[in-house]
Parts: sequence; C-alpha cells; structure tokens
Amino acid sequence: MSETRLSLITRGPTATRELGQRIGQPLKAGSVIALIGELGCGKTCFTKGLCAGLGIPKKQVNSPTFAFVNEYQGRFLVLHLDLYRIDDASAGLDVGIMDYLARAEKGVAIIEWADKVLPLLPDDRMVVKFDVLSPRKRQLELSARGKRFGRIIRGLEFG
Ligand SMILES: Nc1ncnc2c1ncn2[C@@H]1O[C@H](COP(=O)(O)OP(=O)(O)O)[C@@H](O)[C@H]1O
Ligand SMILES: [Mg+2]
Repeated sequence: MSETRLSLITRGPTATRELGQRIGQPLKAGSVIALIGELGCGKTCFTKGLCAGLGIPKKQVNSPTFAFVNEYQGRFLVLHLDLYRIDDASAGLDVGIMDYLARAEKGVAIIEWADKVLPLLPDDRMVVKFDVLSPRKRQLELSARGKRFGRIIRGLEFG
C-alpha cells in the first residue's frame, strides 16, 4: 500500500478544529484515527473537530479522565480513547483495547497517545503527529497507507 503524507500548520485552536472537521465529514464506518503528540499539543481540540464532522456537538467531547474511553453517538458510534495513563501496548491489551477496536469496526475510533499502541492498530488507519511550534502554532503531519485515508488527505491539499 502506498503512503500518503501531508504536513499542515494551524495557527490557533479554531484552525485545528476546522481541519479535524474537514477530515471527520467524509469518514466512513471502521475508521481508526491515531493521534500522537505531547500534552497540550491539540489532540483533544482536533478530536472535537473530527466529532463535529461526524455530527457530534463539540461540547460533548472531552478527554476521558476517569475512564479512558468516552462514547459519542453521531453518524456512527464514536469511541474516543485517551491512553495518557497507559504505559505501552501490553498495558493497552490489559485494559481491553482490542475489544474497543472491535466495537469501533462499525463506528470510528479516535485514539489520543496512540504511539503507545501503534502495533495493535490496523494498517488501514490515519496517523496525525502534532508538534508544538509556538504557543498558538502547531504542525500536524497526517499520514496513511491505503486508499481510504489517502483520498481524504489529498483532498485537503486543494481545499
Ligand atoms: N494551533 C492550535 N491547535 C490546537 N490547540 C492550540 C493551538 N494553539 C493553541 N492551542 C491550545 O493548546 C491546547 C491544546 O489542548 P488539547 O487539545 O487538550 O491538547 P491535548 O489533548 O493534546 O493534550 C488548548 O488549550 C488550545 O487552546
Ligand atoms: Mg487530550
């Protein structure tokens, strides 16, 4: 499968949310979105946008704090996982990540701190890596193998 990559810079949370929304709108059931980057880089902000594109009001969307997964009902069931407190893939298995991924096959899985469980995720996934460039500037590197996300990523270049 060929790899598609795109680097974008957002200047403020609104731009990050809007980018998320444009990606969320065309998502199909079974999509897995892996978000990677340090605390405060914008993963939850981007998730609010993805969810808006999936028909979920942004005020419903927050980082799961006590549980590590939140569920929302939009066009699909959306499972929003935050693995901040999980050390690695083996700990991810212990908390049942494979069960969540199985449930998300009919919906969408959005995973913050996905670097910890990347080997457990399907090959057909979108990875978004966030870098903090300045207090309001973030670099987002989108990458995916396969057609499903390749088409979505290429669509962003010209919009
Ligand atoms: N360009 C930007 N994109 C996203 N968030 C930004 C940006 N600039 C500033 N911020 C701020 O950074 C913080 C990001 O928080 P959050 O999305 O919760 O991060 P994470 O989930 O990665 O820990 C918010 O306070 C947001 O207002
Ligand atoms: Mg977060």
